[in-house]
Amino acid sequence: MSLVHRPRRNRKSESMRSLVRENIVTPKDLVAPLFVIEGKGKREEILSMPGYARLSLDLIVEEAKALWALGIPCVSLFPALSDSVKDSKATESTNPDGLYQRTIQSLKEAIPEMLVMTDVALDPYSSDGHDGYVDPKTGEILNDESLDILAKMAVSQAKAGSDIIGPSDMMDGRVGFIRNALDEEGFSQTSIMSYTAKYASHFYGPFREALDSAPKSGDKKTYQMDYSNSEEAEREAYLDQKEGADILMVKPGLPYLDVISRLKRVSHLPIAAYNVSGEYSMIKAASEKGWLDGEKVMVESLTAFKRAGADMVLTYFAKDMAKLLH
Ligand code: PBG
Repeated sequence: MSLVHRPRRNRKSESMRSLVRENIVTPKDLVAPLFVIEGKGKREEILSMPGYARLSLDLIVEEAKALWALGIPCVSLFPALSDSVKDSKATESTNPDGLYQRTIQSLKEAIPEMLVMTDVALDPYSSDGHDGYVDPKTGEILNDESLDILAKMAVSQAKAGSDIIGPSDMMDGRVGFIRNALDEEGFSQTSIMSYTAKYASHFYGPFREALDSAPKSGDKKTYQMDYSNSEEAEREAYLDQKEGADILMVKPGLPYLDVISRLKRVSHLPIAAYNVSGEYSMIKAASEKGWLDGEKVMVESLTAFKRAGADMVLTYFAKDMAKLLH
């Protein structure tokens, strides 16, 4: 056969493949989520997330040091709080001595150069388990009424030392509202990574178990996006960009690579992807059963994010991946 084009020539050896490789994952692309609990020396395994645990503040600092040593530049922090501090107003979210604020402070003291990303939404602090206030009469998730507490939460986190504020609540107008509040309080250098296209997804199950933060009634479909849509993600991206977001995020990750790729093309901002808890659990479960090679599937999945156009990936595989790369 006289074939002019033989694409296989560029695949003939690992050296050749590495020469033409378009995308690679490095530890610098990864953000490691961490779950903090009260106590000392406490490590609580999360049943639905094999290998992942809730850690007390002292262990979080140790874990972050290990991640930093592996070249991971950023952690994303979530608090797992007992029901006794939760109420319908999410009062605990702005407590300057709260577990979350103390953890941010300790991380910044221990490893000043490591970035701390924090989550803005009511659910970990709310007895209703929703991301905004719930109207007690109608059950509606109130938009405008929730903006003030979200902004106060963001300012409280910035005061504690947060480098990147991550509004994950999906209320309309919150990015601009939070940007304004941060600037007014003198935090013009605090970044906002907006959960821009956050879908009402069933892949968050293990995370909600980890934080015991599932909604007490109803679902999140009136604020998180309908997973049938991607045009709408562009609209959210347009608004967040206009309101002053620094980074746009797509969540979940693997089933939404098309959305990542779409936002990468229409936006001038860096794109983040959240490889969420359910995606992690599926790979871990199949790997434990011997049905998949967990490590190889992890590398392939994280590379797929880069190929789709993600500049960074929040992933529970961050430590395993960085270890493998070393
Ligand atoms: C809540 C929040 C959720 C996640 C991150 N922030 C869950 C939800 O919206 O119910 C999910 C992350 C994961 O599944 O890994 N504001």
